[in-house]
Amino acid sequence: MPIHVLDHPLAAHFVTHLRDKTTKPATFRTLSYQLSLLLAVDATRDLPTMERVVDTPLESAPGRVLAQPIVLVPILRAGLGMVQPFLDLFPDVSVGYIGLERDHETAQAHSYYCKLPPLAGNRVIVIDPMLATGGSAAQALSLVCASGAVNPRLVCIVAAPEGIAEVEARHPGVAIHAAALDRGLNARKYILPGLGDFGDRLYGT
Ligand code: PRP
Ligand code: URA
Repeated sequence: MPIHVLDHPLAAHFVTHLRDKTTKPATFRTLSYQLSLLLAVDATRDLPTMERVVDTPLESAPGRVLAQPIVLVPILRAGLGMVQPFLDLFPDVSVGYIGLERDHETAQAHSYYCKLPPLAGNRVIVIDPMLATGGSAAQALSLVCASGAVNPRLVCIVAAPEGIAEVEARHPGVAIHAAALDRGLNARKYILPGLGDFGDRLYGT
């Protein structure tokens, strides 16, 4: 499977507290920030760099700087909870937005908003904390590819096997980075054990 699961004791710690139903929205937002910071580092470890020579106060020193601009594409609304850590790490990042909402009965996602900057030549990272059926992520990946993204990647917090399979089937080769790989989905297409509705817990709705 094209899945990279974050392997760090802090990630396990943050995920466990996110799962806890007694965790309140303010703490939930902090944990989402902290976990997304770890994911942002992990999911960008293969970013291309180029040589740059700088002058230190003593002499010149060869170094390397990032070579490819990043475009971050959160899936609204829950994806917004993962944006800030990427902005804090990558100051020159551009942000596009895709609004998708699952129907409560069918679990099919419908699109209600899409605003993307130019994507060609950029490293495109789609972020959404929950990969359940994979319908939302696959739709978002189709939208970014239609706008010029090549080899985008997906970063989420909790992934279900069904969602990974769906993304792999519709977008072969797309790398998925997650903090946790869960057991599966319930009859209402919620992730088990999961953490419930991420957007509701993030925003206290
Ligand atoms: C949640 C989540 C994903 C989607 C995952 O969003 O943030 O976008 O469900 O489910 P899927 O893999 O089965 O498509 P939701 O539709 O609840 O909207 P929200 O972010 O506005 O709460
Ligand atoms: N969306 C969520 O927020 N949680 C799930 O378990 C599935 C979809």
